[in-house]
Amino acid sequence: MPKKTMSIGLSIRYLGYHAAGWRHPAADPGGSTSFRHFATVARLAEESCFDMLFLADGIGVRVTDTPPGSLTQSSQVADFEPLTLLSALSAVTERIGLVATASTTYNEPFHIARKYASLDRISDGRAGWNIVTSWSDAEARNFGRDRHLDYDTRYDRALECAEVVKGLWDSWSADALVGDKEGARFLDPLGLHVLNHEGPHFRVRGPLDVPRSPQGRPIMVQAGASDAGIELAGRNAEVIYALPRSLAEAQAYSEKLRVALERHGRRREDLRILAGVTLFVGRTEAEARARYDAMRDLIPPELGLSYLYAQLGDLSGYPLDGPVPEPQDPMVKSIARALVDQAHRENMTIRDLYSLIASGFGSHVLIGTPESIVDTMEAWFSCGAVDGFNLCPALLPLSLQEFTDLILPELRRRGLFRTHYEGTTLREHLRLPLPASRYGDPVVPTVVEPMS
Ligand SMILES: Cc1cc2nc3c(=O)[nH]c(=O)nc-3n(C[C@H](O)[C@H](O)[C@H](O)COP(=O)(O)O)c2cc1C
Repeated sequence: MPKKTMSIGLSIRYLGYHAAGWRHPAADPGGSTSFRHFATVARLAEESCFDMLFLADGIGVRVTDTPPGSLTQSSQVADFEPLTLLSALSAVTERIGLVATASTTYNEPFHIARKYASLDRISDGRAGWNIVTSWSDAEARNFGRDRHLDYDTRYDRALECAEVVKGLWDSWSADALVGDKEGARFLDPLGLHVLNHEGPHFRVRGPLDVPRSPQGRPIMVQAGASDAGIELAGRNAEVIYALPRSLAEAQAYSEKLRVALERHGRRREDLRILAGVTLFVGRTEAEARARYDAMRDLIPPELGLSYLYAQLGDLSGYPLDGPVPEPQDPMVKSIARALVDQAHRENMTIRDLYSLIASGFGSHVLIGTPESIVDTMEAWFSCGAVDGFNLCPALLPLSLQEFTDLILPELRRRGLFRTHYEGTTLREHLRLPLPASRYGDPVVPTVVEPMS
C-alpha cells in the first residue's frame, strides 16, 4: 500500500503572516492588493502541488490603534474580498484547491451556497468554504450593529446556516442537467429539489440555480475549539485549520474532533486536520535563526505590543525587556493563559513574546534546518495528531520559495508529500469521500455531451 502523505495548504492573506514582513527588502508593500502578486504565489504553490490556497478573512479593518501608533505600522488594513480573489486565481491555475472564508453572521445562506457553488464549477471542483462566525465589533459596525452578536446566537445561526447551505448544494442531482436538444429537455425535473427550509434564523425555499459540481459540493473548513465550535465541526467540517501549540495539545484536540464526527454519524477518518505553522528555514541552524532575527528586528515595538494587548490587555506600565505579567481581564482566557505559561516556561521577555506571536500571527513557529523542521512535521503527522499543515508564510513569495527549495525536497525524500497531483478536485487531493445527496440522488456528475 502506498505510504499516506500529508495534506498541505498555503495561507495567502496579506503579504504573509509576519507583522513587519512588508518592511523586508524583498517585500512589495502594495502586493496584498495586487492581483499579479497573488497570481505569482498561486502558480508557485501549484507547481509545488499544494492541496489548497487558503484565505482567512475579517470583513473590514479589524486592527485598532492600541497601543497608539500601531495602526500606522500595520499592513493588515489592505486586503481583497476572498471569493473575488479566488475566482480570479481559478482562471490562472488548474489543480490547486481554493478555500475562502465567509461569515455566517454577515451573509445569508443562499448567498454563500450560490457563490461557492459557482466558484466550485468555475474551477472544476476546487472550491472550499471556511465557515466562521466573525468576532469583532469592527465588523459589526459595518453591518448596522454596534456590537457583534453574542456567542450563543452566533453559533446557533452558524449551525442553521451550514445546514441550509448543504441543503441548497443538494438542490441538483448530478444527472439533472440533461441537455437533450432533440427532445427539448434541458433538465430532468426529478433531479431538481426544493429545500423549503424554515428555521429560527432563516427561511429559504430554494432550489439553487447552480448545478452540482465535479466534487459533489465544496469542501467545508472550520476552526474553533469551544464546545460550540467542536459541534459545528462535528456536523460539517471536512478540514480543520488548527493552531495547536504542542504535540500533546494537537493530539487531544484531534481526538475531541473525531469523537464529535462520530456523534453525528460520520467516520473518524473523514476529516483532515491541518496545523498552522510558520517556518524560518536555513541550510544551517545559524542561518535559520538569522532569518528569524532579521525579520524580528523589523517589528516596531508598538506593532509588536498590539498583538499582546489584543490577548493580555494593557501592558504600558511594563518594561519591554522585563518578564511577562499575569493577564488582566483577557479577551480569551485560555489563549492568554497559554501565552503567559509559555513565556514563563521559556523565560521570555515581553519583547520575546510579541516577536514570536507577531512572526506568524499566532501560528506555531519552527526555526531550523530542513531536517529538523521536517522531523517535527513528521512526528506530528505520523502519530495521527494532524493530517498535515497549513503553511502560514512569514512573507510571500519569499517564504514560499524557501519552502519549495529547502523543505519540499526533504518532505519528498521521506515520502511524506506528493510529487504530482493524482486527482483534479480539491476533494481528491484531500482524499475525502464524495458526500451523499440527502435526496439519494447520484452524486457523480455525468458529462453532458453535445447531441449530434
Ligand atoms: C486557525 C484559525 C483561523 C481562523 N480564521 C478566522 C477567519 O479567517 N476569520 C474569522 O472571522 N475568524 C477566524 N477564526 C476564528 C474562529 O472562526 C472562531 O471564531 C474562534 O476560533 C473562536 O471559536 P471557538 O470559541 O470555538 O474557539 C479562526 C480561528 C482559528 C483558530
